Amino acid sequence: SNRICVAIDGPAGAGKSTVAKLVARKLGLLYIDTGAMYRAVTLKALRQGLNLDDADALTNLARETTIKLLPGLQQSVLLDGEDVTEEIRSSEVTRHVSTVAGVPGVREVLVNRQRQMAGETDVIMDGRDIGTVVLPRATAKFFLTASAEERAQRRAKELADKGYTVDIDKLTKEIQERDYKDSHRAVSPLVPAGDAIIIDSSGMTIEEVVDNIISWIEKSK
Ligand code: C5P
Repeated sequence: SNRICVAIDGPAGAGKSTVAKLVARKLGLLYIDTGAMYRAVTLKALRQGLNLDDADALTNLARETTIKLLPGLQQSVLLDGEDVTEEIRSSEVTRHVSTVAGVPGVREVLVNRQRQMAGETDVIMDGRDIGTVVLPRATAKFFLTASAEERAQRRAKELADKGYTVDIDKLTKEIQERDYKDSHRAVSPLVPAGDAIIIDSSGMTIEEVVDNIISWIEKSK
């Protein structure tokens, strides 16, 4: 088929969502933020006071949860119909999401839904395992990275713009911890796909990264 599906993977704070949204708008693709899906399940588990070591309970929870990603710049996330767009970015969810995302059953449920979405329309999907697991036959695969310090700086700016006060050292540490967990888990660890184009965005502007990605996609079609 000539369906376009683009995979963007990489560590936390590399700018994947910013870049993916812009590429989506320019090329008319649907942007799918898979991290938001893991965050939504994590939020629900925390609210229910589930034991995050209980893989079966988390898998069942994922199965019986409806997650809707509304298209558009706002990228609203509906958890069982409730708008949780802001709440899934809380530091509590951020601290626990890698644990929930390490549960194979949870991944199986969400990966199936992600593949289904990609089958319905042209998409650009960002996450950790899109090129390796979710869309192994993607039109083009990118692995976007940047130094941990630069990623922490960017996240700090993002949070500051929203009016939050941030401790940059704490942020750097949290990013490094999440990278470590995401890269060392048994199922679908964060690694570039063999055929991914690796882009280190340290010192690059957003526009440069976007243009670079678009030219690769045009070549791969
Ligand atoms: O992309 P974001 O930082 O919002 O993702 C939150 C967490 O969800 C990641 O740290 C990772 O643990 C998990 N995740 C994942 N696979 C994906 C997307 C996110 O394991 N495809």
